[in-house]
Amino acid sequence: MAVALDDIPSSTLTPPAPFPGERDPFLPLMMAKAITRSIDGWPRQVFEQAAWRPPFPGAVTFIMDPDALKVLFVEQASAFTQGAMFRRMMRPVWGEGILTSEGAKWRWQRHAGAPAFRPAQMHALAPSMSGVAEAALVRWRSSPRIDLPTEAARITFDVILDTMLSGGDDFDRDTASARIEAFTAQVGKMKLSYFFAPDAHHEDRLNPPTAAGEALRGDIAAMVRRRRAAPPRGDLLDLLLAARDPETGQAMDDEILRDNILGFIMAGHQTSSVALTWSLYLASAHEPTARRLRAEVAAVAGDQPIGPDHVENLVFTRQVIQEAMRLYPPAFQLYRICTRTTEVGGIAVRAGQRILIPIYALHRHRRWWRDPDAFDPDRFGPGQPMPDRHLYMPFGAGPRICLGAAFAMTELVVMLATLMRGATFTVAPGHRVWPRANLTILPEGGLPMDVVLRS
Ligand code: HEM
Repeated sequence: MAVALDDIPSSTLTPPAPFPGERDPFLPLMMAKAITRSIDGWPRQVFEQAAWRPPFPGAVTFIMDPDALKVLFVEQASAFTQGAMFRRMMRPVWGEGILTSEGAKWRWQRHAGAPAFRPAQMHALAPSMSGVAEAALVRWRSSPRIDLPTEAARITFDVILDTMLSGGDDFDRDTASARIEAFTAQVGKMKLSYFFAPDAHHEDRLNPPTAAGEALRGDIAAMVRRRRAAPPRGDLLDLLLAARDPETGQAMDDEILRDNILGFIMAGHQTSSVALTWSLYLASAHEPTARRLRAEVAAVAGDQPIGPDHVENLVFTRQVIQEAMRLYPPAFQLYRICTRTTEVGGIAVRAGQRILIPIYALHRHRRWWRDPDAFDPDRFGPGQPMPDRHLYMPFGAGPRICLGAAFAMTELVVMLATLMRGATFTVAPGHRVWPRANLTILPEGGLPMDVVLRS
């Protein structure tokens, strides 16, 4: 029987989150808290004001005003680079690929790579993605208690291998997965020296190449060499091998391809798995949302695998994901450094000033959002005014906006629709769900869930 989706009410759930803290009067403590506990350490001002600067020399400026952010990300984007901290942390990992390069080195790679990531190409990957989701449901038949973040990471890793590297048969999946995990754990750790010591200090001394990282780089480089000599398979790697700078015709050499593939796997796999974790948790935590989502999937796809034609029509499913990424943005903060003294939206910024864009606080800002901590997917519903693109920015903004956004949204829609249709998920009794921000926002101590298959 057809279900009128509008008959099912929207959600009003307030999911777990640290309440915006008061400013800690003891400065060193506040600084330590902001570094080690980030979102828990951000004071109330970050959730209420247009800008805020901790009261000590050399402190970063937090900017939360959409007009100022438009200037920063778009109108004067060239005056704001990614920032020394990001560079110090990630360049030893991603080398000179799209994620970590700047200026002309970045521009030609971005222009060459962008066509590979267009939404139509991404929708065509839906069958591979739904195959991975169906396989997860089969796996859970024999293990009904799962740790959601672990399973979500496995799912998004499988997706990136299946869609980017055509099943990764040149690649030992379990070894690569373990190496990526070890590598990510090492690079994700915040170090005080990132704030103060120059770039050269980090290139090798504090971030020596790990065995896992070196082995992973070697595996990817070997695979790129093999694939250059093999017939095309029509996957993302083929598109990248064929990619050319539209102006000069320059192609990516083996080293750049290796850096980019490693970047896409790491940036794409972990962020998407975090988004999937919170989307699935929130969709399951509120029964009206779960019912409405399942009704939509039934109406759009019946019991067919979710395919390219369904993705656009799963409108409410997409809204749930958008709202999950508002409340728990996987990239919960971005850094920029100002390279020339300027003004953004009335805020004076001097050359050398470090800027922190606290996406998590921006998405829950008291001035801009109605009921900021409530889970309400209808904010993103048809007919609702779209939030300012410099206020809601899970994928960043401006010329450096996420290259894989269409990939991630396609994947998340396919996953959420398939998994919610196939099973119900309940947090294990007695487990307290709590967000903890480090490199991304994950549930502290994991998220054990009981899975009951629906057919
Ligand atoms: C839910 C999943 C994802 C989230 C939340 C996310 C978030 C972001 C954000 C916020 C940025 C901008 C960083 C900045 O401005 O400093 C970014 C950049 C980027 N992302 Fe994603 N991302 C996701 C998935 C992916 C996937 C699946 C891929 C690739 C397959 C990818 C590839 C990239 C690349 C290459 C860049 C750098 C773009 C540039 O600098 O030109 N991302 N992402």
